[in-house]
Amino acid sequence: MTSYDASDYGERFADVYDRWYRSCDPYLINTLEELSYGGPVLELGIGTGRIALPLVNRGVEVHGIDASPSMVAQLRNKPGGDEIPVNIGNFADVDIEGRFSLIFIVFNTFFGLLSQNEQIRCFRNVAKHLSEDGIFLIETFVPDIKRFDAGEFVKASKIKDDEISLNVPVHDLVNQRLNIQHVVINEKGIRFFPVKFRYAWHSELDLMARLAGLNLRYRWGKWNRAPFTSASEKHISVYERMRDEWNDDQPPVSNPSE
Ligand SMILES: C[S@@+](CC[C@H](N)C(=O)[O-])C[C@H]1O[C@@H](n2cnc3c(N)ncnc32)[C@H](O)[C@@H]1O
Repeated sequence: MTSYDASDYGERFADVYDRWYRSCDPYLINTLEELSYGGPVLELGIGTGRIALPLVNRGVEVHGIDASPSMVAQLRNKPGGDEIPVNIGNFADVDIEGRFSLIFIVFNTFFGLLSQNEQIRCFRNVAKHLSEDGIFLIETFVPDIKRFDAGEFVKASKIKDDEISLNVPVHDLVNQRLNIQHVVINEKGIRFFPVKFRYAWHSELDLMARLAGLNLRYRWGKWNRAPFTSASEKHISVYERMRDEWNDDQPPVSNPSE
């Protein structure tokens, strides 16, 4: 693995992405549709449209940003995919016209920004593009560093008669980095799918949000809005603009109806 930039993930995964990640939690689409409040929405890292297209089919106006022309080419090949406005670029800079009632980034994609500075920049740029009552939703895994033995492990994620897939993550605690090598070995040869993450705890994300003038509104442990607990493997966090009347001691609610 030599250099790695914003477009690398998509350029490496574009031809296998839809085969590997076909399913999508039905609660996810319901929640995003509800939180769009009828306004235009912006997906950071729209990719092949796995999330965007079902939203469009429900009548939501979706815009996207993605760094990978190959992922967006897959989106364009699908029915309705050529009608979604997509800007090619790094979503840390959210180079896009307009304001959105919902901006969202799912499937750990936020952690693809590899420094704290870049992640803070992303929050700030999101805040600039939210409408007055707009919200920012982020879905990420909860770091689980217990899984590592001397900073690494190897896990066979798929074993078939003619193919094996291995996940080989290396953990850098100092920089909160995971360098993951996903290796597929079959009769055609060996293919490498490197992924790099800079992970952050939910508390650090909340602080980044505050630096951008945003406050936590909801946090769930699953898309069905189950509460976030110490056993949760991921969180879905929703931020809104800080209000003057905000009370620092007020805990986030777990349900939009509360
Ligand atoms: C894991 S895929 C998720 C795609 C889609 N959101 C989904 O859930 O199926 C991550 C997407 O984000 C894009 N991406 C990653 N880092 C990016 C960055 N810094 N700026 C813009 N796009 C980025 C990749 O090209 C890829 O399409």
